[in-house]
Amino acid sequence: MRIGLLTGGGDCPGLNGVIRAAVLEGVRVHGDEFIGYLDGWRGPLERASQPLSVGDVEDILPLGGTILGTSRTNAGRPERIEAIKANLAADRIDALIPIGGEDTLGAAARLAEAGVRCVGVPKTIDNDLSGTDVTFGFTTAVEIATEAVDRARTTSRSHHRGLVVEVMGRHAGWIALHTALAASAAAALIPEVPFSLPDVAAKVRALVAARRDAVVVVAEGAVPRADAIDPEAGRPVDEFGHVQVGGIAHHLAERIAALAGVETRAVVIGHVQRGGTPCAYDRVLTTRLGAAAVEALHRGQTGVMVALQGPDIKTIPLAQAVGTLKTVPPELLAAHAALL
Ligand code: F6P
Repeated sequence: MRIGLLTGGGDCPGLNGVIRAAVLEGVRVHGDEFIGYLDGWRGPLERASQPLSVGDVEDILPLGGTILGTSRTNAGRPERIEAIKANLAADRIDALIPIGGEDTLGAAARLAEAGVRCVGVPKTIDNDLSGTDVTFGFTTAVEIATEAVDRARTTSRSHHRGLVVEVMGRHAGWIALHTALAASAAAALIPEVPFSLPDVAAKVRALVAARRDAVVVVAEGAVPRADAIDPEAGRPVDEFGHVQVGGIAHHLAERIAALAGVETRAVVIGHVQRGGTPCAYDRVLTTRLGAAAVEALHRGQTGVMVALQGPDIKTIPLAQAVGTLKTVPPELLAAHAALL
């Protein structure tokens, strides 16, 4: 089989692990040939690609980012689906493995409907894709963010200050909640549950008075209840209509300082939590997912995504995975309220 691979959307630690495992499995077990399309859907749209051999991939498991590059090119438009189909035929591609999140896999679902054999691999540090217990990159991001909060906490204590640490999570607060729990932070503010600014400020004031530190973890997409913080105003929008988010920590720190009367600073971890080497858990998960995607293609499957379900890697329809986001149930945050 001649298989095309591509990585789309925001990058994520572990993308290279999927690429490596797919190529090793395909070449060694089935005698497949691999083409890597460059920069997400731009690759098959413009026929920008490179051959992928075992030698190209065998050492890339610990490498952050993606050796194929990525972009937020939207392939889902009908004319683009047709163009990609024609280009894949011209490149003699039998099947495609797109590795990406909701947007990349949404386009993969449309391509599969149009007759292209596709098996997707779910990716996002935000962990908000349905149908899989966890997405790779999430565990690494939480490790990085936890270390950042641990470090923020010692300086918060030295100076008797509040600190607001912003992590990624546009629609879902998985990173914020897990980081806050792992680092025993003062609060986790997540997009799913609008927060009360006066309550957060009161908590910071009380904690700084009682134990001299207070670190609040906020997801970039969190929104205050009945308040007018709008960090998205005037921001650029990508091809999928997503507004660039990020920066709420600065607004929040100013408001907390004013309301609590406690000096409060902001830290935005930003892309640091998406860069660098994947943790061991993500290396193993990506290795299993990459190999499973190739096996699914050889079983004749298409229009599906490989997914971690309990101890197993299963396949589920792409449409099911991209239909609804997996957000943090508000009860989960409430259940941990006493621990934050
Ligand atoms: O990949 C998802 C994500 O990490 C979101 O949490 C975040 O809003 C977005 O990517 C940032 O993307 P970019 O790298 O394009 O700024």
